[in-house]
Amino acid sequence: MTTMCRSQVCNPTMWPSGSTEGVSPAVVEGGKELVLSDQQLAKYMELFEENINRGLGKETNPTAIVKCFPTYVQHLPDGTEKGKYLALDLGGSNIRVLLVELGTAMNINSKVFTIPLSIMQGQGTLLFDFIADCLIGFVKSNNVEEELPLGFTFSFPLVQKGLKIGILERWTKDFSCPGVIGNDVVTMLQDALERRGHKKICIAAVLNDTTGTLMAAAFKHPRARIGLIVGTGTNGCYWESQQKAELFDEPDSGSGKVIINLEWGAFGDDGALDFIRRSYDEDVDLHSVNPGKQKHEKMISGMYMGELVRLMAEKFTKAGLMFEGRGSVSLFTRGALESSAVSDIERERYGEFTNVKRVCDSLGLTHATREDYCNMRYLCSLISRRAAQMVAAGLSVLMRRVGHKKVAVGIDGTVYKFHPHFHNLMMEKIKDITGDEFDYSLFLVEDGSGIGAALLAAVLARTQQL
Ligand code: BGC
Repeated sequence: MTTMCRSQVCNPTMWPSGSTEGVSPAVVEGGKELVLSDQQLAKYMELFEENINRGLGKETNPTAIVKCFPTYVQHLPDGTEKGKYLALDLGGSNIRVLLVELGTAMNINSKVFTIPLSIMQGQGTLLFDFIADCLIGFVKSNNVEEELPLGFTFSFPLVQKGLKIGILERWTKDFSCPGVIGNDVVTMLQDALERRGHKKICIAAVLNDTTGTLMAAAFKHPRARIGLIVGTGTNGCYWESQQKAELFDEPDSGSGKVIINLEWGAFGDDGALDFIRRSYDEDVDLHSVNPGKQKHEKMISGMYMGELVRLMAEKFTKAGLMFEGRGSVSLFTRGALESSAVSDIERERYGEFTNVKRVCDSLGLTHATREDYCNMRYLCSLISRRAAQMVAAGLSVLMRRVGHKKVAVGIDGTVYKFHPHFHNLMMEKIKDITGDEFDYSLFLVEDGSGIGAALLAAVLARTQQL
């Protein structure tokens, strides 16, 4: 039996995802190129599998696109973890600092700090000074006197040389601080702490947010073997056998397994996904801070979803198919449509147009007709369905690699959390692809990337690797 366990499932009184009711035939026709066929998804899966094998192989890794970084994490939580830990979570436009106490229950105290764009794109040392200030401020205000182990979640592609060494391979999302690529981010944080005369924090491990999510998922669910993020960015990690992870040549620490951070956002950077990429994808890529990079991520994640819908609406309007051919300054402005608006539009009660009208009004499209509202909702569903189906196809590949009949997938990220249909679309597509092969569940792991960092420190304490 396949279980659905998620806090926010689709409300049956909403417009069904992909409904063409009220949509103009020309928009349905124009949007067809965004609908993925079974054959296209099968090809996508085959290519993804090939990319993973290349990433894992010692000989093939240097030129591989999906890097499959071994994380050095070989033990999952078993629920017996105890003690007090700190966690630092950097990944989007916020830094979250947590104090986690594990015992009979889990107590969490945390604070979120917003990172100004000037820091996200300024000198690397300034970023680490900023992180150190947030951490020290938090520790002081919580009267933490003792030296606590800290798990550091750094959600960008890191080449790990150990649990405490992570060399930044490249920036993604909106970050572009000079002076960090090629350096160990743990040393950079330690140096910033030392510049402030602070020696009481011991960094126990550096990890990716997908690893954190898998750790947090496994703490709750004994069958969790895959961690996934569909938020500002997207990525996955899974539990691979140590033998297949050829770059990981550590002695077997008992489990014979290691978590692999896929960095699947880069899938397609060599053109492999061109058979399903469209002019809108090209456009988003060309105008991003990292053209040519993270092409898979740009088709899926929250940072780009709104813009993809806007570009489609812009094209259809200019072709006279929407809004009577009359757009607005906002509709023709890059970045004017947030991905949260896509979720809002799709969260509409069946037969109603309240949310879509609000979004259109905010874009200055007050002349929109009922057909325009239906068209807008349809464009949103085209982009989100394509994203959910790609993620589902990727997950199906990972489930086969994990090879357990019963498997749970822990997922975090704003798209998964807030999009009303994403979970169900993924569940359905995985079922289509894998039939009865698996008994799977996908579940939301809230704040998994932060809590998971503390849990990793706790697992290292339990397995005496601190
Ligand atoms: C990063 C990954 C991260 C993902 C989700 C991507 O842009 O490269 O390391 O896991 O975003 O935050």
